[in-house]
Amino acid sequence: MYKKFDAKIDALLAKMSLHDKIGQLNQPCTPLPHQVEQFKEWIRKGEIGSILMAVGATAGNDPQGAIDVDFYNELQRIAVEESPAGIPMIFGRDVIHGHRTVFPIPLAMAASFDFDLVEQSYVDVAREAANETVHWTFTPMLDLSRDPRWGRIIEGPGEDPLVGACMAKAVVKGCQGEDVSHKDRMVACAKHYIGYGAAEGGRDYHRTEISNYSLYNYYLPAFRAAAEAGVGTYMSSFNEINGQPVTSSKFYLTDVLRGQLGFEGFVVSDYGCVEQLIKQGVTDDRGEASSMAIEAGLDMDMYDFCYIENLEEQVKNGRIPESVIDTAVRRVLRLKMAKGLFEDPYCKPEKFDRNVHLAHAREMAANSMVLLKNDGVLPLKKDMNIGLIGPFINERRSLLGSWTVDGKAEETPTLLEAMTEAVEGKGKIHANVGISLDKDFTFRMADRGDVVVLALGESWARTGENKAVSDITITEDQKSLFKKVKATGKKMVGVFFCGRPIAMEGIAEYFDAILYAWHSGSETTHAVCDVLFGDVVPSGRLPVTMPRLATHIPLYYNVTPSGRPCNCYYGENPGNCYVDSYPTPYYPFGYGLSYTKFVYNDIINCANPEVSLADLEAGKTFKLSIEVANAGDYDAKELVQLYIHDPVAKMMRPMRELKAFEKTFIKKGETALVEFELGYKDLGYYTAEGDYTVEPGKIEVFIGENCLTERMTEIVIK
Ligand code: BGC
Repeated sequence: MYKKFDAKIDALLAKMSLHDKIGQLNQPCTPLPHQVEQFKEWIRKGEIGSILMAVGATAGNDPQGAIDVDFYNELQRIAVEESPAGIPMIFGRDVIHGHRTVFPIPLAMAASFDFDLVEQSYVDVAREAANETVHWTFTPMLDLSRDPRWGRIIEGPGEDPLVGACMAKAVVKGCQGEDVSHKDRMVACAKHYIGYGAAEGGRDYHRTEISNYSLYNYYLPAFRAAAEAGVGTYMSSFNEINGQPVTSSKFYLTDVLRGQLGFEGFVVSDYGCVEQLIKQGVTDDRGEASSMAIEAGLDMDMYDFCYIENLEEQVKNGRIPESVIDTAVRRVLRLKMAKGLFEDPYCKPEKFDRNVHLAHAREMAANSMVLLKNDGVLPLKKDMNIGLIGPFINERRSLLGSWTVDGKAEETPTLLEAMTEAVEGKGKIHANVGISLDKDFTFRMADRGDVVVLALGESWARTGENKAVSDITITEDQKSLFKKVKATGKKMVGVFFCGRPIAMEGIAEYFDAILYAWHSGSETTHAVCDVLFGDVVPSGRLPVTMPRLATHIPLYYNVTPSGRPCNCYYGENPGNCYVDSYPTPYYPFGYGLSYTKFVYNDIINCANPEVSLADLEAGKTFKLSIEVANAGDYDAKELVQLYIHDPVAKMMRPMRELKAFEKTFIKKGETALVEFELGYKDLGYYTAEGDYTVEPGKIEVFIGENCLTERMTEIVIK
C-alpha cells in the first residue's frame, strides 16, 4: 500500500543523521507558553516528529485550549524550513467523537447499528478538525469491554466483536476517506492495542489475563477490521497481558499486528507507555525501556522523551542496531507522505456549513437512543402538560460526554430549552430540577403535568479515562426523587443520560417508559425531543448487556455454555449461578423497542441448507431470509439480528454470536423480506495459534429482535 513512497524514503533516510531519525519518533505534547522557545529549538534541531495537541494526559477529562492554527503553522514552518531534514511534523489530537460539533459517545453510536451514519458522522468530524490543523486523530477506540464499571467503556463499541469491527471500518473510512491526503481528512488510529478493555475489576490501567483463544476471537476482530480498512496507525495500550506489558511485547506489536494483520502503518505508544515499563517492573532503566519498546515494534514515543533521550546511545553502545530505528522511521515517513504533508504541510482553514454537521449529529443521536420500556405513554403529544423534573433538565456539559476536547457546553441546549422549543407553544412545560431546596415545588410541577418526564443519569465526570466506578447506578437522591414522583400517581417517563449501562433493578420498574439517551453530544436534547414526540421512532439497540445488579458483572451475551447444568445461557438457570439473585440480564444485548410493532415470521430455511466445506471455502454461501411485518402504527426501522451457535466444535463456541444484522425501514402495514448470507468468514473461529478454522457439522442460526431470540433453523457444513 505504501510501496510508491519507498524510493523517496530511501533517499531521505540516506541524508538523515541518526539523531534526525530518532527525532521523527518523538511526540511531545503542545508546549505551555513558557516552554515555547525551548520547543522551537527542539524542532530546529530535528528532534520532534509529531505533536500531541494537548497540554497533558487525559485530554478528555481536562480542558484543553482552543487550537491556534497560526501557532501550529509557525511550528510547522520551522520544521520544514529550519530543521536539518526539513521533514514536516504530523499533528495529532484526541478528536474522539466530535470536534466543535460533538457526536454521541462511541458506545451510543454503536447502539445505532447504523454504520453508514457513523461513517458520515466521522466525515464531518474530520472536516472540522482537519480544518484546524489536526492531521491525525486518536480514534477509533476499539476496546471490547465486558465491564461497565470501566470508565472508558463509553469510548468503545461494547461487548461484541462484530460491532467492534463495524465501528472500526466506519470510523476509519469516515476519517481517512478514499484518499487521506485530502485536506478534509485525518489519519485514524486504532487503539488501544490491545486488551485494555479487559482491565480487572474495570479498574483503569490494571492487569489483564487474555488467553490467545479469547484474543483472536473477541479482542482482535475489531483491530483486524481496522487493518483491513487501511487504518494508518495503531496506539499500543497501557496494560499488561498475562504478565507482559503490551509496550514491550513483540508478540502483540509485531507478530500479530504486522505478521497476522498485515498492518503497514506505524504504532504510537499511549501516553508515557515507554517510561512506564519501569513502573511495570520489567526494567529499571529508560534506555533499556526504549530499546525494549522499539524492538517490540513500537515506532513513536508519545510524551515521555524516552526515545529522543536514549535511543542514540542505545544504538551506539550496540544494544540495538540502527536498522531497528530505520524501520520505525520508514513507517512514520510513509504515513506523512500518505497524508500529503510533504506537498502541503500547512493548514489553510476554509469555511464550511456547520449547520449541516449539527443536523447530522442530531440524526446520529436520535438513532443511537434506545427505548427500553414503553407501557404506551410514549410518544408524547406536543399539546400536553408536561412535568419536567430532574438534575439533567438544565445540564449541558454532561450531554457532550467525556473525551470532548473542542465541543462547547455553552452551545449545547438543555433539555428544558429543547422541550420548550419542541412543544411549539402548544403544550406547557412545568419544570423543576428537583434535587435541590425545592422539593415541594418539584412535586407541584409533577402534579401539574399530564405526564412527568424525569431527566436522570450520570455526570460525564464519572466516565472516561481513569474514571472507573464501583457501582453502576444513579445517585440515591435521584432514586428517592423518582420514588416520590411515582407516589403522585402520574405516568413517569425516564430519560437517562448515561455513559455506560446501569444496573436497572430497582429503577426500571418504577417507570412507564424509559428512553436511554446516553451522552449524545451537541444535539442530545433536540434528538431526545425528536424521539419523545415521535418525530423519530426509536431504533437504537443495546451494544452491551444491561445487568440487574453491578455484582453480576461480567455479564455478556456471547458466553460459552457451562457443562453443569448444560446450556445455561446468560444466567437463565439460577442453579448454576447465584443463590441470592438471578443474573439474567435486565435488558439483553441487542435489545431495544420501537413505537411500532414488528412481527417476525419463521425463518425461511435456505434453499441450500447443506454446503460442503470446500464449496464454502471457494465462496459459496448459505442464504437465509425472514419476513418481518410492521403491524403497528408507525413507519419505523427494525434491527433484524442474526446469531449463530456451533454446538459441536473442537473448541467451545459461544451460545450466541452476532454474525449479521440489517437495519431495515418498514412502512406501517408492510412486510419486508430481509435476506442474509453466511459464508466461510462467518462460520469459523480462530484457534489459540491464530489460525482461522471452519469445522464441518451443524450450525444453529437464530434470527430475531435481540440475542435471546429462540427463532432458529439449522444449516450444515458437510
Ligand atoms: C489515553 C489515549 C489518548 C492519549 C493522548 C492517553 O492517556 O489513553 O486514549 O489518546 O492519552 O491524549
